[in-house]
Amino acid sequence: MFCINKRKFFKLLPKSEKGMEEMCGIIGKVGEENVIPQLINGLKKLEYRGYDSAGVAFVEDDIINRVRAVGKISELKKKLSQEVIESRVGIGHTRWATHGSPTEENAHPHRSKNGMFYIVHNGIIENSEEIKKNLLPYNLDFESGTDTEVFAHLLEKYYDGEPVSAIAKAQAVLKGSYAFGLICKDYPDVIFGAASGSPLVVVKGENGFYIASDSGAIDEKTVEKYSVSCGEICKITSSAAEFFDPSGKAIKKQREDSQNSEDSFEKEGYAHFMLKEISEQPRAVKDTLDSLISLGGVWLPHVNIDEDFFSEILEKIVIVACGSAYHTGLVAKHIIEKLTGVPCAVEIASEFRYSHPFIDEKTLAIFVSQSGETADTLACLRLAKHCGAQIISIVNVRGSAIAKESDNVIFTKAGREIAVATTKAYSAQLAAFYALSIFIGREKGKLSEEQEEKYIEELSLLPQKIKETLETVNENAKKFAQKICKWDKVFFMGRLTDYATACEGSLKLKEISYINAQSYASGELKHGTISLVEEGTPMIAVLGESKIFSKTLSNICEVESRGAQVIVITDIAKENLLSGNRTVISVPDTLSEFRQSLLVLPLQLISYYTALLRGCDIDQPKNLAKSVTVE
Ligand code: G6P
Repeated sequence: MFCINKRKFFKLLPKSEKGMEEMCGIIGKVGEENVIPQLINGLKKLEYRGYDSAGVAFVEDDIINRVRAVGKISELKKKLSQEVIESRVGIGHTRWATHGSPTEENAHPHRSKNGMFYIVHNGIIENSEEIKKNLLPYNLDFESGTDTEVFAHLLEKYYDGEPVSAIAKAQAVLKGSYAFGLICKDYPDVIFGAASGSPLVVVKGENGFYIASDSGAIDEKTVEKYSVSCGEICKITSSAAEFFDPSGKAIKKQREDSQNSEDSFEKEGYAHFMLKEISEQPRAVKDTLDSLISLGGVWLPHVNIDEDFFSEILEKIVIVACGSAYHTGLVAKHIIEKLTGVPCAVEIASEFRYSHPFIDEKTLAIFVSQSGETADTLACLRLAKHCGAQIISIVNVRGSAIAKESDNVIFTKAGREIAVATTKAYSAQLAAFYALSIFIGREKGKLSEEQEEKYIEELSLLPQKIKETLETVNENAKKFAQKICKWDKVFFMGRLTDYATACEGSLKLKEISYINAQSYASGELKHGTISLVEEGTPMIAVLGESKIFSKTLSNICEVESRGAQVIVITDIAKENLLSGNRTVISVPDTLSEFRQSLLVLPLQLISYYTALLRGCDIDQPKNLAKSVTVE
């Protein structure tokens, strides 16, 4: 049944949820001692939200100063180290540019004309041009090309000595999404904040109060935590936090679970977070599986769907995600269809949200997201809910928007992932899909108890096999990286689930090494792409699907006879594959349903070593951000 209410649903959404959102990180602290070190550490931890420019504004002797720099937090830190700053009140920002190029003028904090307000902003003000034209003096000199600056001027316009009421009046004219942090010259011991549609938390630390886009940015032990949303306003001093509704009326807020994350922000001796996270995969997969398998059966603790739904109602499954998470869906589709007998479609969230999705109450919609904040995936989740589908989300970050808005969640246990290119969260998502496929297969009556046992037994061996694979393929991956690092194009191929892994391998390589890497379903090569093959062109073939082994092998021979140097990533006996110049990287054997968890590992390592040889910024590749909260 076509979901006819979609249009109506979009009309009902606040504009911020339909439009773009700037992906930035904000932090602010009022303490008893100098806050600059905590602002810098916090911004460093928020770099996953963007790293085009950064800045801080802080109060010293009742005067507000500002330091900004283009590039990463390290550039801002260098600038700040040239001055001796002692400040107990400060706000900071790390930016992923949408409105205005990544220059120092466009870096936050922005200020109002007379310097009464300094503000940092995450989000997007969709009607900034309209506000400039209709509400601000026509001859106002803007210092930047950002939408944010408009809000600083609006605050000054509405300010009559009371910042909370100025914020309330200013945000009443905004369209878009925002989380603001701001300092007012008349109140040098206070930070104010407001948020709608973008995350903002207030945290009481052991040594003062913070505002931040993410509580993970805060260096101290969390004593109390509150979320600010839906136009609410907050006011923090070093010893107290107050909250107001959007009109400026004082409200009481409920404290939230303030469990401190034990996840490390350190590289712990590894050269890069990506390498550390690659090596953490056995643990990530084990922890994920352990949380979903108990007493020999799959148990999904945060899924509460009536048994009848699976056995009587379920007709169709749709998986929606972006980037690597989408690739886990491409793998899962084949496993789900095999184990449950239910047709499964996999959709790119940014496409799906504007297509004509056939989803209804007989559909199970699965949303996959490491961050739980990806704007397109979140929009699709809301759409599917509105259409009456049952929802299960596979999410790594607890407390994220997708986790909060999903009726049913499977939490992956990858732990905090810092490298922009995902590895351990990817593996944990695959593990979650294996458990979910078995669960639905059993509920649907398609899998017997014996089959379930067989799968669970093999899954218990998977973390160790991942560990073994990482150890045994490492040297080969380094060698192969030397071969491909000088090429500007590399092709990947595979069929069925091998194709899904080829897609992930090519994404990994291109995002961190900047080599133009493309993946193809093997059978498609001769419909065009083969014309790009020249003497020496690197071609990586993923070959695990034994039922189509001979077909993919023929495709390998076709490109080899046109000069390609082929590397085969496989779990099939090496003797059947060695020939000529071909390189073969073998991974251990497992059940066919789970093999992509092993086949993807050499591809992660090849990408890592290739990027290393090319001198790329592996953990923070150019133009990217870890959490994509922009449409
Ligand atoms: C970004 C990341 C990718 C990730 C994708 C989806 O592009 O760099 O690694 O796969 O977003 O993110 P999500 O948080 O929804 O999994």
